[in-house]
Amino acid sequence: MSRPETADSVAALRARIRDWRRDGLRVAMVPTMGALHEGHLSLIRIARERAERCVVSIFVNPTQFAPSEDLDKYPRQLARDLDMLATVGADVAFTPTVGEMYPAGFATKISVGGPSAGLESDFRPTFFEGVGTVVAKLFLQATPDCAVFGEKDYQQLCVVRQLCRDLDLPVEIVGAPTIRDTHGLAMSSRNAYLDETELQTARQLNVILRKAATALAGGAGQKHATDEASRSLSAAGFQKVDYVEARESLTLAPWRHDRAGRVLAAAWLGKTRLIDNVEVPAA
Ligand code: PAJ
Repeated sequence: MSRPETADSVAALRARIRDWRRDGLRVAMVPTMGALHEGHLSLIRIARERAERCVVSIFVNPTQFAPSEDLDKYPRQLARDLDMLATVGADVAFTPTVGEMYPAGFATKISVGGPSAGLESDFRPTFFEGVGTVVAKLFLQATPDCAVFGEKDYQQLCVVRQLCRDLDLPVEIVGAPTIRDTHGLAMSSRNAYLDETELQTARQLNVILRKAATALAGGAGQKHATDEASRSLSAAGFQKVDYVEARESLTLAPWRHDRAGRVLAAAWLGKTRLIDNVEVPAA
């Protein structure tokens, strides 16, 4: 397959999508920040099963990074990304500049409540405002029928669902399972920051979360299981654990044993912050 066509302006994107619509084709979108890996490609494969055409956006969105975060060093590798997109058959790569997305005078923010409370927001207070704003823009620019988001960023997936529900955005949100390496480490563009020792430690994150989820499913107390997981992360070599929490899968409200649950965590290895989450298996 060949590299996708690129559109770097909203006008060019809309022109292409207008052609598809005229031909009666369904359109799926996969928003990304690039530095693509197998996790991203899995979303595109799902998108292609659901629609005749697939737009992948590649945009490192500055509004979701706090000033202290890794916006400048976030990996940017467009040529490699386009080669990877050729292997899965994306139709258009939407690659806007920061100026195209946020022209001088841009002054709107979308703040989503509900599932954005706590977890990531306790440590990245403006993150979901940035995500909500950019995702709303992308959906209004591309007007896709459906969009695929990874469960890897589970709270983000819940926030995007809430955004579409609340603003009547007619986009079906599809959640996709987390793709992991053979040791269970969730694939992430930020894994590129890890050295060999950190990589070994990073692989413990999923092991420890699965252990906590199994303990919870078996009736362990919530505080006990999450504190234990937090201690295990520190013992494994994570220097700082931001949170380990059990939440209700659909709403992210505090978890109760009779509800479908999710254990979510964020922890630091050196300068790299990793997140992961696993399902609490049915008791
Ligand atoms: P990014 O981190 O590039 O992720 C893009 C999409 O890929 C998200 O839906 C994310 O959940 C999914 N993804 C990442 N790693 C994955 C894995 N190992 N398995 C399955 N899916 C995975 O998330 C963002 O970008 C941004 O916040 C964005 C939504 C594009 C808004 O700027």
